Amino acid sequence: MTQKSRRVRKAVLPAAGLGTRFLPATKAQPKEMLPVVDKPLIQYVVEECLASGIENIIIVTGRGKNAIEDHFDNAPELERFLENKGKTDQVEMVRSISNMVHFSYTRQKEPLGLGHAVLTARELVGDEPFAVLLGDVIIRGPCPATRQIAEVYEETGIGTIAVEPVPAERTHLYGVIDAQPAEPSRWGQRLLRVRNLVEKPQPGKAPSNLAVTGRYVLPPEVFDCLERTSPGSGGEIQLTDALRLMAREHGLCALAYEGKSYDAGDKLGFLKATVEIALENSEFGEDFRAYLRGLKL
Ligand code: UTP
Repeated sequence: MTQKSRRVRKAVLPAAGLGTRFLPATKAQPKEMLPVVDKPLIQYVVEECLASGIENIIIVTGRGKNAIEDHFDNAPELERFLENKGKTDQVEMVRSISNMVHFSYTRQKEPLGLGHAVLTARELVGDEPFAVLLGDVIIRGPCPATRQIAEVYEETGIGTIAVEPVPAERTHLYGVIDAQPAEPSRWGQRLLRVRNLVEKPQPGKAPSNLAVTGRYVLPPEVFDCLERTSPGSGGEIQLTDALRLMAREHGLCALAYEGKSYDAGDKLGFLKATVEIALENSEFGEDFRAYLRGLKL
């Protein structure tokens, strides 16, 4: 495969899940649209795509998820209203959201699992490598996590997933990898070869403390692995099961990426993301810090 054809230009953002961990907020509203400070969750993910060189974003939506499409579309009435009021900064901000990148949408008719959601994007991805970013995970750090794993793929041609260390007593909340050191490379010990993946292992049974974080760069061969994956836990087609096949048949790398993730589809993760992002806000971050300091905790 040539260097050019390894370039990662497309990203799939699965956003068709029911968001049951965030009920009742997600009863009639997509969890990906919950605002973290002043932007919906999924906008952070789209911005990570942009900063990672992605040119085409494919969002997998489902019933009740129209607000996502509206958010990344033009809003002529709103733009006109703001223009008439002379609010040019806000007009620019609203416009820039719809002009960010090329969006396409595909619908997952039923939420049959993350693996099934990725498979739904097969036609739109075609025969090229692509990134997958979970629509409810925010990652912040010096270099976008998707760019970090895309660089591994572009150099090695091997599908790569982002992992991060988690405390031993929390492994049952994640997919955890069983891995060995990769060939020597510029990533040193941060780059591993995946032998196996275990979904939510009980403490003491986990093969490592490295959890799958919600960012993947995969070759198109993963679609065949997904086609051959039967429904697993909860009757859903799990991406983890297809990745296990990938690791065995085509190889799979894991990169302990540099950065910090927030599972904002979970109430506590959402609160942590909100507080940390608010503290860095140039407009009110200092006031917010002073407010937090003043709380009698
Ligand atoms: P999650 O497991 O976090 O999403 O999947 P969920 O099922 O909506 O959440 P809970 O557990 O009920 O609270 C990670 C991402 O994959 C998408 C979700 O929208 C989320 O962004 N997803 C999940 C799909 O697109 N389709 C599915 O069938 C399942």
